[in-house]
Amino acid sequence: MRKPVVLITGAGGEIGHGLIDTLAGGGARAIVTLDVAPLDPSLAKKVSREFTGSILDKGLLERILSEFEVDLVFHLAALLSTRSEFSPVTAHEVNVEGTLNLLEFAQKEGESHGRPVTFLYPSSIAAFGLPSLAAKMAAGKVREDQFTTPTTMYGCNKLYCEQLGAYYANHYKQLSKDPQSGRVDFRAVRFPGLISALTVPSGGTSDYAPEMIHAAAKGEAYACFVRPATQIPFMAMPDGVDALLKLAAAPRESLTQTVYNLGAFAPTAGQVHEEVLRAFPDAKITFTIDEKRQGIVDSWPADVDDSAARRDWGFAPQYDFERAFRDYLIPTIQERY
Ligand code: SER
Repeated sequence: MRKPVVLITGAGGEIGHGLIDTLAGGGARAIVTLDVAPLDPSLAKKVSREFTGSILDKGLLERILSEFEVDLVFHLAALLSTRSEFSPVTAHEVNVEGTLNLLEFAQKEGESHGRPVTFLYPSSIAAFGLPSLAAKMAAGKVREDQFTTPTTMYGCNKLYCEQLGAYYANHYKQLSKDPQSGRVDFRAVRFPGLISALTVPSGGTSDYAPEMIHAAAKGEAYACFVRPATQIPFMAMPDGVDALLKLAAAPRESLTQTVYNLGAFAPTAGQVHEEVLRAFPDAKITFTIDEKRQGIVDSWPADVDDSAARRDWGFAPQYDFERAFRDYLIPTIQERY
C-alpha cells in the first residue's frame, strides 16, 4: 500500500521553509520533498522523505509516483524573475516544462488512486505587465484579468502555467473517448513580493525590500536598486503560507476562479526604508538605481485587488505593514543575527 502524502517541490526555498514548519506542526500528512539541493538539516528532520533532484527528471518523478500516494502538491520550484532574464531558456525549462511534468505527475497520481490531486501553484504579480509607470499609477488595485501582458520570461512562464493548470483541471484530453479532466484540482495564487524573516530570496526583483531589512539587521550597508517612490504589494511570509494552506483546504464549490490575487500591504521602497530606520537607526541604506530592474518593477502593479480571495476562501492576512515589522520581521530577524 502506498501512503497518502503531500509533495512539496522547491522545498528548500523561501516559501518551502515556512510551509514545512507549519505542515509538520499540524502533523496531518507525511511530507515528501523534492529540491535540487539537500534541505537544511533543520528542515530535513521535519519531512518523511527527501528527494534531491530536478523536477525535469521524469525518472525521478516516476519513482515518487510508484512509491507514494500523493493527494496534495505544492509546486514551489521556480527560477525567479531577475535570474530568469539572464537565462531565459533555462527559466522556461524549469518554470514551464517543470510545471508540465508536475501536472502530468498529478494527473497520473489522480488516475491511479481515483481521487483528485489538489495542486497548489504560486503564481506572481509578475504575471501582470503594465505598459508604463503612468498607467501603473493610474490603475491602482488591479484585478486578476487586467493587464495580463507580462514583460519578463518569469511572468510569461507563470501566466502560461496558470492556464496550463486550468487546462488539466477542466479540459485535459477533451477529445479522447474517455476524457480524463478533473484529476488535477488546480488552484493558483498570484503572490505579491514575499518578505520572510528566516530567509532572503535569491534571483527575484522584489528582493530589494527583504534585502534592505536583512542587511540592516546584520549591520551591513545596502544599496536599494529601485527609486524610493517605487510601489508594489508585499506580504509577510506567515500570511503567504497561511494563504496556500487556506486555499488548499477550501471546498471546491466555493472557488469561482482558478487564480487569485493576494496582497497585504503596498509600501513604497522609501516607506520600507523609513520603517527599517525606525527599527535599526544605524542602517546604512542608499539608493543606487538599476534602471533595468526598475523597469521590471515599474511594470508590476502598485497594488492588487484581492477581494475574490477574501470572498471565496476567507483570505485574511494578519500582518499589515506596521505589524509585519513590529511583530514578525524585527523580533524574528533580531533573534537570528
Ligand atoms: N518575488 C518574485 C520576483 O521578484 C515575484 O514573484 O521574481
